[in-house]
Amino acid sequence: MEWRCPVCEQVLAPVEGGLQCVNRHRFDRAREGYVNLLPSHRRHSRQPGDSRMMLRSRRIFLENGYYQALRDHLTERLVGLAAARARFTLLDAGCGEGYYTGHIAAELTRRCADTRIEVAGIDIARDAARLAARRYPGIDFAVASSAALPLGQGTLDALLRVFAPGYGDEARRVLRAGGHYLTVTPAAAHLGALRGLLYDHPRPHEDAPESHPGMTHIARETLRFPLRIIGEDVTRLLEMTPYYWQVDRARQQAVSELPELTTEAAFHLDLYRN
Ligand SMILES: C[S@@+](CC[C@H](N)C(=O)[O-])C[C@H]1O[C@@H](n2cnc3c(N)ncnc32)[C@H](O)[C@@H]1O
Ligand SMILES: [Zn+2]
Repeated sequence: MEWRCPVCEQVLAPVEGGLQCVNRHRFDRAREGYVNLLPSHRRHSRQPGDSRMMLRSRRIFLENGYYQALRDHLTERLVGLAAARARFTLLDAGCGEGYYTGHIAAELTRRCADTRIEVAGIDIARDAARLAARRYPGIDFAVASSAALPLGQGTLDALLRVFAPGYGDEARRVLRAGGHYLTVTPAAAHLGALRGLLYDHPRPHEDAPESHPGMTHIARETLRFPLRIIGEDVTRLLEMTPYYWQVDRARQQAVSELPELTTEAAFHLDLYRN
């Protein structure tokens, strides 16, 4: 990926041990292979983004296959967008520990042999970039914020955002004209039975598609499937969601002790064209 300098917005070129712009702003490459492009004024806390515990729990939960249907569906949509193009550049914004990024990159490369595929991921949490880079060494990962992407204007063919905060203006800036913004958000029914156990008055998720001025909403798909969550994965699911911070410990404890939990996954996939 052609990263831009977060200080002066010039192109970053590879130099020994990292990246540097013409104005000599330099960013070291970490041992795991990612670069930290988050300027300190964008770091609103000492450790922004998801904590190591959340990332670790999410990694195991996802690797146990609970959201595989979502991953495969996203892959199909992105293969569809990449096919027949000479070049396809994709960024996964708020990529977490890289579960979707890694699989999608591998499948795009395998299935779109005539397309020059470039996939990268950014996340505001350094532990996310670290875990992702270690596991998926062929992909560029950077620490950065979706609110100020370290990319030039009109440089992406597609921007993916799965359960992560979005900034439509910034998406619009980095996408080329005709490029696609693919978002995944929880549908109203998502994890309904789990929320019923955790809250007295569970509020359904917001269901309306976001509006992104300047982009056209071209498709919505809703993916729903039953989830039977076994053993410690119930605790992992709690730990990877905001419920962990919102709900009192006694209720969490009761849910964590369930030998299994049956609930439902429900996602909206929204596709916008720039
Ligand atoms: C619910 S997780 C989803 C991670 C991944 N997309 C997945 O579905 O497995 C949300 C992610 O967004 C990251 N995040 C939060 N605010 C962000 C921002 N402003 N820019 C980039 N990433 C952000 C968090 O660190 C976290 O990894
Ligand atoms: Zn610079």
